[in-house]
Amino acid sequence: MKDSSPSAIYLKDYTVPDFLIDKTELTFELEEANVLVTSRLHMRRNALSSDKVASLVLDGGDEMKLIGVAIDNVSLSADEYQITNQSLEIFSAPNEFVLTCETLVEPQNNTRLEGLYRSSSMFCTQCEAEGFRHITYYLDRPDVMSVFTTTIIGDEEKYPVMLSNGNEVERGKTEDGKTVVTWHDPFKKPAYLFALVAGNLAVQDDVFKTKSGRVVTLRIFTEHHNLEKVDYAMGALKRSMKWDEDVYGREYDLDIFMVVAVDDFNMGAMENKGLNIFNSSCLLASPETTTDDAYLRIEAIVAHEYFHNWSGNRVTCRDWFQLSLKEGFTVFRDQTFSSDMHSETVKRVEDVSFLRTAQFAEDAGPMAHPVRPESFIEISNFYTLTVYEKGSEIVRMIYTLLGEQAFRKGSDLYFDRHDGQAVTCDDFVAAMEDASGVDLSQFKRWYSQAGTPELLFESKYSVTDKTLKLVVKQTTPPTPGQESKLPLHIPIKLGLISKDGNELESTYSGETAQEHVLHLKSEEATFEFSGVDSEPVPSILRGFSAPVKYEYAYSTEELLLLMSSDSDGFNRWNAAQQLAVRELKSLIHQIKNGEPLADQSDLVKGFKSLLLNEELDPAMVALILELPSQAYLSELEKEIDPHAIHSALTHLTKVIANALKEEFSATYMNNVESTVYEPNAIQIAKRALKNIALHYWVESDDVTALESLNEQFSNSDNMTDQYAALSIAVEAGVEKADVMLATFYDQWLHESLVVNKWLTLSASQENVDGLKRVEELMSHPAFDIKNPNKVRAVLGGMGRSVQVFHKEDGSGYRYLADQIIYLNKRNPQLASRICTPLTRWKKYKSSLGDLMKLELERIQKEDLSKDVYEVITKSLN
Ligand code: ARG
Ligand code: ZN
Repeated sequence: MKDSSPSAIYLKDYTVPDFLIDKTELTFELEEANVLVTSRLHMRRNALSSDKVASLVLDGGDEMKLIGVAIDNVSLSADEYQITNQSLEIFSAPNEFVLTCETLVEPQNNTRLEGLYRSSSMFCTQCEAEGFRHITYYLDRPDVMSVFTTTIIGDEEKYPVMLSNGNEVERGKTEDGKTVVTWHDPFKKPAYLFALVAGNLAVQDDVFKTKSGRVVTLRIFTEHHNLEKVDYAMGALKRSMKWDEDVYGREYDLDIFMVVAVDDFNMGAMENKGLNIFNSSCLLASPETTTDDAYLRIEAIVAHEYFHNWSGNRVTCRDWFQLSLKEGFTVFRDQTFSSDMHSETVKRVEDVSFLRTAQFAEDAGPMAHPVRPESFIEISNFYTLTVYEKGSEIVRMIYTLLGEQAFRKGSDLYFDRHDGQAVTCDDFVAAMEDASGVDLSQFKRWYSQAGTPELLFESKYSVTDKTLKLVVKQTTPPTPGQESKLPLHIPIKLGLISKDGNELESTYSGETAQEHVLHLKSEEATFEFSGVDSEPVPSILRGFSAPVKYEYAYSTEELLLLMSSDSDGFNRWNAAQQLAVRELKSLIHQIKNGEPLADQSDLVKGFKSLLLNEELDPAMVALILELPSQAYLSELEKEIDPHAIHSALTHLTKVIANALKEEFSATYMNNVESTVYEPNAIQIAKRALKNIALHYWVESDDVTALESLNEQFSNSDNMTDQYAALSIAVEAGVEKADVMLATFYDQWLHESLVVNKWLTLSASQENVDGLKRVEELMSHPAFDIKNPNKVRAVLGGMGRSVQVFHKEDGSGYRYLADQIIYLNKRNPQLASRICTPLTRWKKYKSSLGDLMKLELERIQKEDLSKDVYEVITKSLN
C-alpha cells in the first residue's frame, strides 16, 4: 500500500479556471529515443475567476523532463517555480503573458498508452481524458479551449507522414535536412482533442461534398500492408457525413478529415479534431478476415467518432463529470444511424440486450454511479457502460417524450446556443426544454440517480365497462452512496393485443390509438384505458422505452401470443426471451436442488413455428432463437452459481436441438448463400439464421451436421461463416475442435486481428484443465502483453469459460489477479478494466465469492495505480 491514498474529486467543487490559453503553439522534434516538445502558450487571467492568487498551476506528469520554462521569453530561475509529481507551479504570473515550456518525453517507454507513445513504428497520441499533461505542462481540463498550431520536425525517411489537427499550412526542411510540417486548427478546442501521428503510413484518399457544396478531402492512414482493408470504413465515413446532414443538419467544418489506424490502443477510437485515431480492430475490414458483427461495429464506431465533431468537439464538456453530455448523446446518434442503415428492430434488440446484460450488472455492482457522477478518483474509470449506454437511453427517452420534430428543434438549439463552448448536461436538457416546452425537471433525476429502476405492472379488465386499469409501481434499489431514491419520470410505451393476436384500439387521456406513451412520475400510478373491446394482453415498454427492469405476470400462452403477434418487433423478441428465462431459471433451480431436469420446453412450439414460417425476417428469427446468455442470466440471479447456469443452458440447448433437428437442418440448407459476400442487412440476416441453425443442428449430434460444419469451416470464402463454424465446434465441444483451432491459426497467423479471435476462442474452451491452455496462450509467439487487444482477447476468452475462470479451487481468479498486478503500473487503464469480473464477487455463491474477494485483497496490498486503486477499494467496501 501507498502511504498516501489517492483522493477523490467532486463535481460540487467545480470552479472556473484561473487562467485561459488563447493560443497554443507546439513544436515536436521527433527522435528515436525521445521527443523534445516546446510549447508557447498565450495565456491570460480569467476575468470570471474569483481566485486572485498570483500563482499559476499547470498539470503535468512526473515522467516528463522539464528542460526549461520562460515567461515572455525570460527564463525562470529554480526559485520561481516548483514541480511536483503532477504539476508545475509558477509562483508569480502576470495578467497576460506567453509561457514557454520545453519538455523531453520518451514515447517508446510509454506503456500506459496515454499521451505520446509508439505503436509499431509510428508515433501516436491519446489525450482523452487527461493524457495531454504527459506531453507538456498545460491547463489540462476541457473548459480551457485554445487554438492550436503544431509543428512537427522529423526524419523524412522514417516519418514521411506527420499529422496533427486541422489543415497543413506549411512544409519545409531544416538545415540538417529534416522535414518540418506545420498544422493549424482554426477551431478552439480543449487539449484532450489534440492529436499527433508520425510514421511510414499508406493512405487512401476520397472526397465528400457537403450539402453547402464544399469539397472535403477524406484520408484514411494505415500501415502499408493494411491499406486494402480501409474501403469499408471509408464508405461508412461518407454515409455518416451524409446522415448527420440529413438527420441533424450538421455539416463538417474543416477541409480535411483524417483517420489513422493504430494497433496498440486502450479503447475503441478517439474523436480528435480532424484526426480521428482508431484501434485497428475497429477500422480495418475485409470479407476474408472480418465477421459481420465486426463490420457493423466498424460502421458504428466510424460514425460515432465522426458525430463527435459536433456532439463533443464543437460543443464540448465543461468538466469530466459531464462526460455523458458528449458520450450518451453520441451513442444515441450512432445507434440511430445504424438503425437507419440496417434494421431498426434488430439494432434495438442488440443494444438492449447489451445494456441489460452489462450495464445493469454495472449498476448493481460496487462501481455503480449516476450517468453524471458526483465524484471520482480516476476519470478513466468512468468511461463506462453507464455513461455511454445508459446515457444514450436518457437521450432516447427525451426523444420519446418530445417526439421527432421537437427533439430536432432541441438539438438545433443546443448546437446553436453552445457552439464553441464547454457546457453541462443541464445545458443540454435546458435546450431540449426551451425548444419543446416540455418540462423535464423531474426527468433530470435520471442523470443523478444510479441503479436500475424496477417496475411492477398489474392489470384489471372489466368486461362490462370495457376498461383496462393498469397499476404501476416503481422502485430503484440502493447503490453505493445513495441509500434512498426518488421516483423517476419514466416514459412507458404501450399497446394492447387481443387474445386472437390483433392490435386493439383504446382511449387513454382523451386519445384513441393503438399505442400510447404513459408518463409514470410517482411511486405508484393507475392508468385507465377505455373502449377496450375484449380482454387484452398488454404489450409493455415497447421498443424498451426506458432502461428499467419490469415484471408482469404473463402466462406462457400470453408470452407465446406476444412472440407471434405483437406489432412491436422488440417485444416479440422480448416475449421469447422471457419464456426462455423462465425455463432456464427453473432448470437452474432443479440443478441447484439435485432434481431431475425437465426435458420438455414450451419454447419448442414457438421455435418450430418460427422455423417453418418463411415469411418472417430471418434476422428476427435468428435473434429469437438465441438463448439468453450466461452473462444475462447471471445478472438476473440473486446469487450466481455459474456452473448451474452453464449446465442449464447446455441442457436447454440440447432439448431444443433434439426436438427440432429436422427443422434446423432444413433452415441451415435453405440459407446457404451462393452469392459473393457483402456485409449488407439481407445477407447478414441469412448468415445469422443459418449459423444459429447450424449450432442447434450440431448440438443434436447428427452426423450430417458435423459434415456440414466441417465443410463450412474449410470452404467458406468469408470470416463470418468460417468463424461461426469454428465457434460452434468449440462451444459444442466436438471432437475435432482442437484440430480446427490449429488449422485456423496456421491459416491466419499473419493476420493479427484474426489471431486475436483465435486467442479468444482458444482461451474460452470449456475444460477443467483449461488454465494450462491459457498460460500457453499468454506465452505463445502470437501474444504480446503490450497490446491491449491481445490481453483482452485471452483474458476475455478465459472469463467466458465457466470451468476455467470459475474453477472451484480459485485458480482462475488467482491467474486473473496475477495479470492485474503485472499490468497495474504498466498500463493502469487496461489493468483497471480487467478487474471487472472480480468486482462482482458479492453476487456469487459464497464458495466462489470468497475466493474472488481473497484475490481482490491480495491486489490491494500492492502499490496501486489510481485506476486500479479506485476499483479495488470500491469493490471491497
Ligand atoms: N471519446 C472516446 C470515444 O468514446 C473514448 C476515449 C476514451 N479514452 C480513454 N482512454 N479513456 O469515442
Ligand atoms: Zn465517444
